[in-house]
Amino acid sequence: MNKVRLAIFASGAGSNAINVINFFSNSQTIEVAAVFSNKKEAQVLTSAASLGVTTFVMSNEQAEDASFLIQACDSLGVDSILLAGYLRKIPSAFVQHFPKRIINIHPSLLPKYGGKGMYGMKVHEAVKSANESETGISIHWVNEHFDEGGIIAQFHTAISTQDTPESIAAKVQKLEHAFLPAVLNHYLTTPLS
Ligand code: GAR
Repeated sequence: MNKVRLAIFASGAGSNAINVINFFSNSQTIEVAAVFSNKKEAQVLTSAASLGVTTFVMSNEQAEDASFLIQACDSLGVDSILLAGYLRKIPSAFVQHFPKRIINIHPSLLPKYGGKGMYGMKVHEAVKSANESETGISIHWVNEHFDEGGIIAQFHTAISTQDTPESIAAKVQKLEHAFLPAVLNHYLTTPLS
């Protein structure tokens, strides 16, 4: 079987991107072909490059241009995409070009705390303000709407009254690092039905 060629789209620190790159560094199933970012100063670009991964910076206009993205991915032989802390909307023609091959990770138990403007610490602050007793992560297929594609997997973690948005973020990140690579390995290597 040919290896899946995965592109990771990320806008920030990239701890998930780096965790996924390391997990698949000797894999027979998935190869991280490139990291794409719409932020030229994003930490993820330097970290990925230092691990020998091709990096690709795009402007916000290019990030909205489906033909540009499709061509960039095709030129790298990319067949699957992971959004890991990627904060731009994905154009619909791009979603249609990669049916059931674009996955997003979101730091809450969707449909709670999802949608436009809900990302990173904003999510954990909202979870804390609502006095939730648990939170978690959602790994889901990407469709044309923010955080609304079909759920692939969710993992939960308990929250106590002592938790702060920062400690909630740390618990969530632990789940992301522990579970995302294995979920990708399963769902991106399963033939499409
Ligand atoms: C992760 O927690 C990811 O779930 C979240 O951004 C963080 C990126 O961290 N994504 C969203 O909030 C998308 N709505 P990282 O850059 O360290 O991987």
